[in-house]
Amino acid sequence: MDQTTQMLPSDDAGIAQAAALLRAGHHVAFPTETVYGLGGDARNGEAVAGIYAAKGRPSFNPLIVHVPSADVAQTYGQWSDAADILASAFWPGPLTLVLPLAADHGLSSLVTAGLQSVALRVPAHSTAQRLLQSFGGPLAAPSANPSGRISPTSATHVHAGLDGRIAAIVDDGPCSVGLESTIIGLTTSTPTLLRAGGLPREAIEAALGAPLALPDTAAITAPGQLASHYAPRGTVRLNAEAPTGDEMMLGFGAIHGDLTLSPSGDLVQAAANLFDHLHQLDAHNRPIAVARIPGHGLGAAINDRLRRAAAPR
Ligand code: TXA
Ligand code: MG
Repeated sequence: MDQTTQMLPSDDAGIAQAAALLRAGHHVAFPTETVYGLGGDARNGEAVAGIYAAKGRPSFNPLIVHVPSADVAQTYGQWSDAADILASAFWPGPLTLVLPLAADHGLSSLVTAGLQSVALRVPAHSTAQRLLQSFGGPLAAPSANPSGRISPTSATHVHAGLDGRIAAIVDDGPCSVGLESTIIGLTTSTPTLLRAGGLPREAIEAALGAPLALPDTAAITAPGQLASHYAPRGTVRLNAEAPTGDEMMLGFGAIHGDLTLSPSGDLVQAAANLFDHLHQLDAHNRPIAVARIPGHGLGAAINDRLRRAAAPR
């Protein structure tokens, strides 16, 4: 531990203190509606480098840049008709757009990992919005967990993973969506689903009036997509009907477990509970069996995260 991590309230004084720490180049975790983010000034190369260091990220994956509005987003990314449609329909919210970098963007090249594109998101969470306004600049923010571990959906999760490694955590309770944002690439002629997430693909395709392309898997440039990611300590077995041996069971719908993502089979509730339940089961240090989750709506992103949690490592 090389610094004391302060727990800040989400009142005006807490937000002002968090913004001052960020302006001084420090790192502050803050809530968004998806997961808690580990924020740093996206224009400050040392602050961005410190994010990778605090997470223990093995490589410089590009990070999402958070801004308060679509207007501000246009100072960093090149706008297009598709960007306009998606931003109007879903911002603020759990959607990230990857756009060609604008001229004179002023962002650290580390935040884009040297790419000619940038991932931008306007979060809906009121505390994230107030922090962005108070800070007055773009915030790079990956999920606030050590690299390769389960994403944080509460300040307690962040504290467990990053205490002593960041300056502060703004505590504002659990995240409502519970899954990272859906990432859409707008750098080619066809909008592309780069990461399934908290906004269902079906809603995006309805807004666009056209199907999304899927990335060319041979050339995947949405890193963070390492096979083993979001990993609990114990092994994870999917599509289980019941636990065997020493397994803890994560249930869904009619299949009840030690914890159940949604007893009524509601995928929105399951998404909100996913990482918190994995954290709780992980604390037992035993293998985890998971019930089958349907693949539609938010089920696509839930299954994506579960496959990564189950991947060999
Ligand atoms: O919900 C979220 O998106 C959370 C909250 C904190 O906003 N943030 C988050 O950030 O999940 P992170 O850094 O864990 O995920 C960033 C993802 C990675 O998969 C990365 O590869 C992709 O965004 N990404 C960033 N810039 C990109 C770019 N220029 N081209 C393609 N993918 C990009
Ligand atoms: Mg992450």
